[in-house]
Amino acid sequence: MNDIAMNHDTILVLDFGSQYTQLIGRRIREQSVYSAVKPYTLSIDEIRAMNPRGIILSGGPDSTLGENAPTVSPELFDLNIPILGICYGAQLMAKFFGGKVVGSSHREYGRTQMTIMSSTQLFVDIPIEPTTSVWMSHGDSVSELPKDFIPIAKSDDCPFIAFADESEKLYALQFHPEVSHTMYGNMIIERFVVDICGSRKEWNMTQFLQDELKKTKEHVGSEGNVICGLSGGVDSSVAASVVHRAIGERLTCIFVDNGLLRRSEREQIESMVNAHLNLQLIVVDAAERFLLKLKGVIDPEAKRKIIGNEFIYVFEEEANKLSDAKFLVQGTLYPDVIESVATSGPASMIKSHHNVGGLPENMNLILVEPLRELYKDEVRKLGIEMELPLSMVMRQPFPGPGLAIRCIGEVTAARLEKLRDSDAIILEEIIKADLYDSLWQAFAVLLSTKSVGVMGDKRTYDETIALRAVTSTDGMTADWARLPFDVLETISRRITNEVSGIGRVVYDITSKPPGTIEWE
Ligand code: XMP
Repeated sequence: MNDIAMNHDTILVLDFGSQYTQLIGRRIREQSVYSAVKPYTLSIDEIRAMNPRGIILSGGPDSTLGENAPTVSPELFDLNIPILGICYGAQLMAKFFGGKVVGSSHREYGRTQMTIMSSTQLFVDIPIEPTTSVWMSHGDSVSELPKDFIPIAKSDDCPFIAFADESEKLYALQFHPEVSHTMYGNMIIERFVVDICGSRKEWNMTQFLQDELKKTKEHVGSEGNVICGLSGGVDSSVAASVVHRAIGERLTCIFVDNGLLRRSEREQIESMVNAHLNLQLIVVDAAERFLLKLKGVIDPEAKRKIIGNEFIYVFEEEANKLSDAKFLVQGTLYPDVIESVATSGPASMIKSHHNVGGLPENMNLILVEPLRELYKDEVRKLGIEMELPLSMVMRQPFPGPGLAIRCIGEVTAARLEKLRDSDAIILEEIIKADLYDSLWQAFAVLLSTKSVGVMGDKRTYDETIALRAVTSTDGMTADWARLPFDVLETISRRITNEVSGIGRVVYDITSKPPGTIEWE
């Protein structure tokens, strides 16, 4: 069992496959309390071994009324540990203790007003009376409470939107406190995690760094060298920095220029590494190889696969030139590590992407993954803790397949140039307007649609740039950014004036869901 769970007050989140499960884990960490997300199938012995302070049963796409509905061992409720059920988890608790759950022909999705019916420790000192706005996403609901449970809150559609058996510290919420649209959701989570479960607020990056340096030293021992693929993004840079601080010169980083980078990106990364990280860095110019392989390819998944494979070939070639390479650093994050629960729900695979480019096992390298316990925002905090430059720590994410998946249709050198020029203008204007840090990402997408225009006295028939700018806390959900009109205007004017071959700029006003952040 994971030693962090043993050494910290831990809240265990049992996952029933909700798209929001990881958010629950993050919200708990935001309270400076360690959370571990595990599949609902975790055995009672394993749960006992973790010695959690409290347990949260997540939502999920199944119905408790269905045959073979996912459930927990009855012994879970004998552990004498506070339990909070959310959505599916709430229905599961209601059913388990003898209440009644009914199906519904339609899903309730979105904001609802919740009306408080009686006081509870879960809502203590939260200004939610008499009503407050909460986020719902459910089909079934609880129609009769089990004996000993009391109703805490209701909504127009749901007689029991929150209920509890306070003496047993059992709480159930039909709505999602982890979703930011629920007002005071984080306070509700704090009440459960800190007040009801009694967890100490002791999870912080200062302590984590010390522990991780020690662990990395022990793991790597005194023999063999360590290699790391550095992309310049936050994850690989922070991972490399931790390992470098732990073992120093035995680390060599490899940066592959795949020709799909943004304007001046390679130079920026090189100078950032030289100025701040003080690492041994090998830069490989592989642009031509990648472009050749991408010739004629338009399917997004095919692009990803080609780029992922080519990266492996290039990286392997370089790694083989290094003597005595025994370990490989990877910037794997906690969301990549959590075992996914097999359900048919929306949390199951949407695109075949994130953090692909995993290197093959036959390289026979031992993995070093200093970030595998962390969420993205914690990686940033760790970077700040290590005094890495803010320009690196706060860098907006950039996908591994780079501009290839922002070049809709074929990826050619000429199209990449147009995209790069447009992207550079967007970035310049976003920084000038002091908006960079408030956006999760802002970038250009080159579309495969041409449109007619007039320039001077001439008719033009040129390509289109879509401007994508989103706000988000983790990339799992996102909202389109309400950029000021004058910023939009400047970006559009500059791109159509300065980038030859672009005749039109459109602004993408799609949130995620239903859209994704990237277009491919
Ligand atoms: P989507 O498009 O799924 O993106 O809403 C969510 C976040 O992931 C990034 N992204 C990728 N990162 N390889 C990566 O390393 C990929 O193939 C990939 N596709 C999307 C995206 O930029 C956003 O931050």
